[in-house]
Amino acid sequence: MNTVKTVRELRAAVARARSEGKRIGFVPTMGNLHSGHVALITKATQRVDFVVASIFVNPLQFGAGEDLDKYPRTLAADQEKLLQAGCHLLFAPTVEEMYPDGMAGQTRVSVPQLSEGLCGASRPGHFEGVATVVSKLFNMIQPDLAIFGQKDFQQLAVIRALVHDLNMPIQIIGEPTVRAADGLALSSRNGFLSEEQRAIAPEVYRTLTHIAAAIKQGERDYPTLINEQIKQLEAAGLRADYLEIRHALTLRPATAEDRDLVILVAAFLGTTRLIDNLHLNLDAPA
Ligand code: PAF
Repeated sequence: MNTVKTVRELRAAVARARSEGKRIGFVPTMGNLHSGHVALITKATQRVDFVVASIFVNPLQFGAGEDLDKYPRTLAADQEKLLQAGCHLLFAPTVEEMYPDGMAGQTRVSVPQLSEGLCGASRPGHFEGVATVVSKLFNMIQPDLAIFGQKDFQQLAVIRALVHDLNMPIQIIGEPTVRAADGLALSSRNGFLSEEQRAIAPEVYRTLTHIAAAIKQGERDYPTLINEQIKQLEAAGLRADYLEIRHALTLRPATAEDRDLVILVAAFLGTTRLIDNLHLNLDAPA
């Protein structure tokens, strides 16, 4: 696997692969890779001939007071994992390479509606930062397909919308969340948890499965269900940022008639913010 740091080298390597008739797949990441990322690379190797990954901790998607500075940077270990997973090319640019004229005057991509509420409400500007960097990476690589984890459900919806709205000929694939044995969704931020917090963290997924089970059994009083579960989270030592039931495609608040649902949660354990979700299609065969 080759690692390149400039857009020029990236374009040259991708052009070479394309001239050999290879289909290009892309997995964007911020590094500190875990088994969830490896699953995305593995999936890409099954779908295309040439897999490109990126590692870039994108300052544009972090708000003031968020964890940009302490976000783990583990390039050597990440390169090893990518190599083992069958990745062909890693793009690991500097901030100056991605934003050579600085970020203040950078053209932004914003996806209205889907970016509002949920993580968009707690992290103003976050999805604009994500949509902008992903658009730049897509334009640099021009992959046939790109693969994202479903753990970031709202992010995936935003990216599907931007590709559709900006007519980018890129197939977007969402891959299921990879979980620890106790249900905790794998995340680079789990490394910030103390031993005691790590023991509490599976409560996030338990909340989602509890709500899903109640809905499957016919519960439709969503406000009461949500309020009860927020209290449970708080009793366990978490602080809920949001816990919501939404329509899985539009992300608008779910009504009792909706059949395709997603339950989404963000909760703080100390200063660490964990997110997770559970897609529940009531019309899907059991
Ligand atoms: O999900 C992430 O790791 C990031 O938001 C992404 C898609 C790599 C953009 O910086």
